[in-house]
Amino acid sequence: MDRIRITGGQTLKGVIPISGAKNAALPLMIASLMTSEGLTLENVPRLADVRMLIRILENHGVDHAIDGKRPGDSLNAGQTIHFSAKNIVDTLAPYDLVSRMRASFWVLAPLIARMGEARVSLPGGCAIGTRPVDLLLMALEKLGANIDIEAGYVVATAPKGLRGAEIHFDKVTVGGTHTALMAAALAHGDSVILNAACEPEVADLAACLTAMGAKISGAGTSTIEVQGVTSLHGARHSVLPDRIEAGTYAMAVAMTGGDVMLEGARPDLLQAALDSLALTGTSVSATSEGLRVYRNGGGIAPVDVCTAPFPGFPTDLQAQFMGLMTRSAGVSRITETIFENRFMHVQELARLGAHIRLEGDTAIVEGVKRLKGAPVMATDLRASVSLVIAGLAAEGDTTVHRIYHLDRGFERLEEKLVACGAQIERISDPG
Ligand code: UD1
Repeated sequence: MDRIRITGGQTLKGVIPISGAKNAALPLMIASLMTSEGLTLENVPRLADVRMLIRILENHGVDHAIDGKRPGDSLNAGQTIHFSAKNIVDTLAPYDLVSRMRASFWVLAPLIARMGEARVSLPGGCAIGTRPVDLLLMALEKLGANIDIEAGYVVATAPKGLRGAEIHFDKVTVGGTHTALMAAALAHGDSVILNAACEPEVADLAACLTAMGAKISGAGTSTIEVQGVTSLHGARHSVLPDRIEAGTYAMAVAMTGGDVMLEGARPDLLQAALDSLALTGTSVSATSEGLRVYRNGGGIAPVDVCTAPFPGFPTDLQAQFMGLMTRSAGVSRITETIFENRFMHVQELARLGAHIRLEGDTAIVEGVKRLKGAPVMATDLRASVSLVIAGLAAEGDTTVHRIYHLDRGFERLEEKLVACGAQIERISDPG
């Protein structure tokens, strides 16, 4: 199994290109199931999760073709992938595939909307909390689907099609909003989604569906209106830049000091995180190229954060911010309100010498003067990158094990950091 070795202590200087957003690419790829015509997605990141979802979509009969690299193309340009779900050959999404990637459960909505039936495995346990799907199923039931749970599978039917409805989420859910949006787009009549997630990835999905002929207004706000249409057509859409990747590298620069241009990053997608970073004493400024992040030799000020749905501080940057706070000059409180049990990085950060105490949903981080390299274990996608951030500032070598978590969501992480002066390398074990 591969691991990553980091020798800490280098400042970061240079340019880091920001890839297309994983969390936008996945629902966009799933939306290809909604039309018998082709959907072309540009700026798709090269990630393990993307490859896994391609396998899952293939199982339903979706063909795909990836444009080859042309002379002069930079590796930093995302992939262009053409999807075609002309013939859906299977409406079953089996356990062995869905259990590997939770977001693949979202195929339920397009399958039921287009085919009137779907059998999709429940996603099963997840390292960052129970993560139920009750709200996704509620949305589909409101739209007229019959839902049964049989032997670990959600069996959904709507022989006469879905019908428009009012869907009110009592908790903000990104996956629930994606599900409601895709299903309502092909329902008979009008729908309104209340307390919808405002995350940019929802607006990106809505923009793509609109290009495919859906009638949607209000995406990106908490009230989304959808006028159902009978079918969607082909389209071409470019995946928005990854705000979590941008925020992660911004925190890495804040941690090590230095001056990095995050090329293609859109500050409007992560303002809350940038505001918190500015309070730590890091300069962040928007330019025509992206986002410049700069910190000189001054200390890192402690800052409290509390995760919240967009436009609040993203839960997907909580672990990275905690990594940064381990070196702050004081005490900070980091409160996680979206997922219970999303503090598994705490024990691993402690192995590097961090002082962190948990009180319910809050981590109290007492900054230390120095971290010391150690072997650590990646536990989930965002937690693992927080260990990389800490390792970049730790004295000596840090080895991060189980980095398949990183490969799920960060494109060419080592290369991007090495290009800015970090000492980080992937070590592949034979066999
Ligand atoms: C998505 C993101 C994930 C991010 C999360 C919150 C993708 C692929 N994943 O996950 O990176 O951390 O949004 O921004 O885009 N909930 C329920 N019932 C449900 C659904 C959700 O109680 O039916 C709860 C969850 O347990 C959690 C909260 O709602 O406490 C938010 O979850 P949700 O927004 O749905 O997360 P995901 O869409 O799974």
